[in-house]
Amino acid sequence: MAIYNKQNFPVEKVRKYLEPGPVVLVTSQWENQTDIMTLGWHTILEFSPSLLGCMIASMNVSHELIRNSGECVINIPGVDLIDQVVAIGNSHGDETDKFVVNQLTAQPGDVVKAPLIGECFASFECRLHDGALVDNYNFFIFEVVKAHVDPQQERPATLHYTGEGIFRVMGEQILDQHQKFKPEMLI
Ligand SMILES: Cc1cc2nc3c(=O)[nH]c(=O)nc-3n(C[C@H](O)[C@H](O)[C@H](O)COP(=O)(O)O)c2cc1C
Repeated sequence: MAIYNKQNFPVEKVRKYLEPGPVVLVTSQWENQTDIMTLGWHTILEFSPSLLGCMIASMNVSHELIRNSGECVINIPGVDLIDQVVAIGNSHGDETDKFVVNQLTAQPGDVVKAPLIGECFASFECRLHDGALVDNYNFFIFEVVKAHVDPQQERPATLHYTGEGIFRVMGEQILDQHQKFKPEMLI
């Protein structure tokens, strides 16, 4: 194992190393308006109920739609959607219909009004669980109330954003060959 020669690094840039993933496409709907945004800042908070936290900046049209409706869908794109991920994350839903411009298929959900994206291999219907951190941090806590996953795509390669226009692809799997995980740790 190597000992690294670490040097001072600007604290505002640590996201380069901590960025979660995968990048997701969040769909929302309020009254007659539908939108999609690209989102990289999310985290799992609990398994059951299935809770997720997402930072959705207030300048985004999606923020208002989700705040008003209390709902969204978290869609997971594969690496084939890189162009759409970038285009959707660099345009606003009040200027353009992102489904049409990005040639994506809106599909109805079972529980929420926001559409699923047909070209994404997984889509999670979410309801706002706790909005206590929205005013101060734009941090929405959602409960996944229905999950749709293509069973043929168990662990496809995904896109992870590290800032400055750089994505990384996660695809390689490393198994616990020595079986050091205890059964109760295999969550
Ligand atoms: C790779 C990538 C990751 C992004 N991650 C986030 C994020 O975590 N939170 C956020 O508020 N905006 C994020 N954005 C920016 C929004 O997607 C962008 O502001 C988008 O235009 C919002 O669309 P809307 O105004 O139609 O909601 C990201 C953009 C890109 C390209």
